[in-house]
Amino acid sequence: MAFTKTVALLLLAASDLVVKGEVRKFPDTLSFGVATAAYQIEGAWNVSDKGESIWDHFTHTTDTIKDRSNGDLACDSYNQHKRDIEMVKELGVDYYRFSISWTRILPDGFSNRLSQDGIVYYDTLINDLIAANITPFVTIYHWDLPQRLQDLGGWTNPMMADFFTDFAKVAFEAFGDRVKSWLTFNEPWVVCLEGYGSVTKAPALGMTGIAEYMCAHNLLKAHAKAYHLYDDVYRPIQKGRVGLSLNTNWHEPATQSPTDLEAAERAMQFYLGWFGHPVFSREGDYPQVMKDRIAQNSLAQGYPRSRLPEFTSEEISYIKGTHDFFGLNHYTTTLVRMPKKVLEGPSFYDIDLGTEIFRDPAWPGSASFWLKVVPWGFRNLLNWIKKNYNNPEIIVFENGFSDIDNKNDTDRISYYNKYLNALLDAIEDGCNVSAYTAWSLMDNFEWLEGYTERFGLYYVDFNDPKRPRTAKASALYYKSILETRTIERK
Ligand code: GAL
Repeated sequence: MAFTKTVALLLLAASDLVVKGEVRKFPDTLSFGVATAAYQIEGAWNVSDKGESIWDHFTHTTDTIKDRSNGDLACDSYNQHKRDIEMVKELGVDYYRFSISWTRILPDGFSNRLSQDGIVYYDTLINDLIAANITPFVTIYHWDLPQRLQDLGGWTNPMMADFFTDFAKVAFEAFGDRVKSWLTFNEPWVVCLEGYGSVTKAPALGMTGIAEYMCAHNLLKAHAKAYHLYDDVYRPIQKGRVGLSLNTNWHEPATQSPTDLEAAERAMQFYLGWFGHPVFSREGDYPQVMKDRIAQNSLAQGYPRSRLPEFTSEEISYIKGTHDFFGLNHYTTTLVRMPKKVLEGPSFYDIDLGTEIFRDPAWPGSASFWLKVVPWGFRNLLNWIKKNYNNPEIIVFENGFSDIDNKNDTDRISYYNKYLNALLDAIEDGCNVSAYTAWSLMDNFEWLEGYTERFGLYYVDFNDPKRPRTAKASALYYKSILETRTIERK
């Protein structure tokens, strides 16, 4: 018995042995892509009849963007999509993930008036991609809500499920004969937490503990409604796939103490579970720990009901299972521990989640304060998803590294090398990952950071009005990985 156990342990250790310099092969079934988003690259913010989005409004009316910049011109992709496709082609990726600007095709936000120029722009982009043998992967909502809908309360307005589904319908109708891969939402957590709970994304409402939960509630209904529309009406003819992409850090317990383990698991539920549990779990609905804690805190604070809205049982079933894959955006890891003292007032972080989140100073950094290089966290996260959501097909829709201004970007190369190795580790653990997307094709408007943080494989010269693009060293590295479908373990 003891002997068998020792042999088993030895075998386990051998399989975990890391051989530096080893060349590892990606499964043939894994496809690769690159991603962008409309507001971050298109520019042409008011050409033709395009309407105003919340990011147009936010950048024009506040001075919160670090370099006082905006997306008015951005990478000028509205005029340079042919060059973008050339780059995508040069990299040798299988697909290109981009998003549709809502107000470019529906100038007023509503679907009674379509912009022909807007439709033509995306039609051309899609046709040119297909001609170049690149699969289009389309995000319907990457954060640029029509300002007019924001004036009606944005995602806190329950009518948003209808307005969003009207927009999705226009997209399915106009492009679905050629687009077979759809994301309803990019990073709902960021949309709601940062845009409504805090002030780090438009519309910067800053009503923590209340507004983010209202936003999430309506957004989940909007996602489900658009998914069902596709399922009922378009899937039988168009035969495509629909999902959404959730973001999370891996939350590592600061110590192995039971309280820190509990804190880290709670953080996973408040980040990934908030949107993941209603859609991907067997039971549906918000995670129990969120329902319990927010209800208790709300009562203790004198609210007549939980600040977390409740789904009816019909809504739970309607939202549950609205996915054809698990979309994941992941960049980094944080450490989590139980706090020494609990703060007061309605608040997502301090009261409801109620944990301390920090970073190990020894972890290598990037240009973004939040982005530390912790590749093993990626492997742990993929395994957590496998365990919690019944081993779904996972598509990684974003992963990448920021620097300041560097074409010879060896730190980005090292990041991709480490994270792709961690991805392979997770695949060897049995995680069902079918695709990996690098963020981003090129440097672009990085939200509150403006153009001060660069995530691109291609360098964009933002001082030149022509916005010329040049391949960075990392573009050549990514290309070589895609050509050989192998990666070296460094
Ligand atoms: C994601 C977002 C992208 C990009 C990236 C890098 O949260 O979806 O648009 O900005 O982060 O920070």
